[in-house]
Amino acid sequence: MASILIVDDEKRVRDGIKLSLSGLAHELHEAETLEECHAMIGRLSPDLILLDVHFKGGATCIPFLERLQTEKVQIPLLVLSGAASAKEAAEAMKLGAYDFLEKPISADRLRVSVQNALNASKLKAKTEAATTEKNVRTDIIGDSPSIQKVKDLINQFGRRDAKVLITGDTGTGKELVAHGIWRASTRAAKPFILINAAAIPETLIESELFGHQKGAFTGAVSNQLGKLEMADGGTVFLDEIGELSLMAQSKLLRFLETGEIQVLGSNKIKICDVRLIAATSRDLPAEIRAGRFREDLYFRLNVARIEIAALRERREDILPIFAHFVSSVCLRYNEPIRLVEESAKSALLNYPWPGNVRELRNVAERSVLLSRDAIDRKLILEIVGQQSPAATEADVDLPKSVEEVLHLKDYRKKAESRYVAHVLKLADGSVTKAAQILGVDRSHLHQKLKDFGLV
Ligand SMILES: Nc1ncnc2c1ncn2[C@@H]1O[C@H](COP(=O)(O)OP(=O)(O)OP(=O)(O)O)[C@@H](O)[C@H]1O
Ligand SMILES: [Mg+2]
Repeated sequence: MASILIVDDEKRVRDGIKLSLSGLAHELHEAETLEECHAMIGRLSPDLILLDVHFKGGATCIPFLERLQTEKVQIPLLVLSGAASAKEAAEAMKLGAYDFLEKPISADRLRVSVQNALNASKLKAKTEAATTEKNVRTDIIGDSPSIQKVKDLINQFGRRDAKVLITGDTGTGKELVAHGIWRASTRAAKPFILINAAAIPETLIESELFGHQKGAFTGAVSNQLGKLEMADGGTVFLDEIGELSLMAQSKLLRFLETGEIQVLGSNKIKICDVRLIAATSRDLPAEIRAGRFREDLYFRLNVARIEIAALRERREDILPIFAHFVSSVCLRYNEPIRLVEESAKSALLNYPWPGNVRELRNVAERSVLLSRDAIDRKLILEIVGQQSPAATEADVDLPKSVEEVLHLKDYRKKAESRYVAHVLKLADGSVTKAAQILGVDRSHLHQKLKDFGLV
């Protein structure tokens, strides 16, 4: 028996499909919107999705398929297209849909396609062995007492409907934990919407949260629904909450106290039922002392708190997480699983991991790409850039021949990347601290670290 998710905004179509498939003894679920579909994917892990191309308001399924692709969701999909949506159907196939069915769909054709798609994916799953991408994306690996406590708190807070504040340095797994809370909660079937305050210019964040009406400010050319309203009934994950302006903080506080939101440019008040999960890698008490964060907002958020320790403070998690990523990358590329030599293990244990688990994952991926059969110490040291001081000097040395000359742009990037990595180490891996020393904005530095592949 397989579980099948039917996604169409017309009840009539969903009912028709359910009737056609009723004789096949599969578990049938339905969703009316793409957001609902996304939430149900997280909760149910369906074996097959039947997805309509066009949704109310002119939306198509294409951006949604792109999103699933970036999130590495690998569930077979059958696209249901009308005659007018042949172009989108073709695009959907490019984005990994298994097949498309033109409406009106005959019951026989539907049953055959569903069985074919399920058989094909079973075959694929067999060859891909036990570790699926889905596990890679959502499982929290590690058995250190501190990660054990994080897992316990996820279940404990997940079931209650409290606001949660997640703290931890960059790459420690804050987003992963937020996902875990949502999946453990009674809102798991409802939307989980992410807002990254560090990625949105300060001037637009309020509109992102609360929405705006056409003409509310220069550039507001049409009405826009805010993320809080979009998530009504569900969960909002507000990442990098420490980046919010004081004005946005006070509006958020009001929302947390009353459930009220006021769309920018409108004087109407709306009530939304949203569970907030916030995260930050900033030291909020220090931000309060500096006058950049509201103390009352902090107290409101700090009730249920999950603190994730830096990786160097829970070294016993390093090797299991490394092994996990090595084997999942090997499986993904269909290659034999690499052995990790003892000498490599000690190199991994001794490195300070300023970029935490994200950096560890990158190193694991790179070590699979750069090795044939075993991962040794030399390779690890090469990747984490811990050569001997002499080698490091040579690295920045001037080119000895014309062939070695880099384009100026590339040289600048290389020098900057080395410098930033070094400063990050001096700052004990704290991006906030490094940004302060370097005199740049935290979000700017964060973006740079991402560009350089340092986190
Ligand atoms: N304990 C863990 N087990 C497995 N994977 C993990 C673990 N912790 C983090 N990861 C992985 O490390 C990467 C970074 O995690 P995540 O994005 O949740 O970090 P973050 O704390 O939100 O970072 P940032 O502050 O930079 O946004 C992700 O790919 C995540 O899946
Ligand atoms: Mg994050």
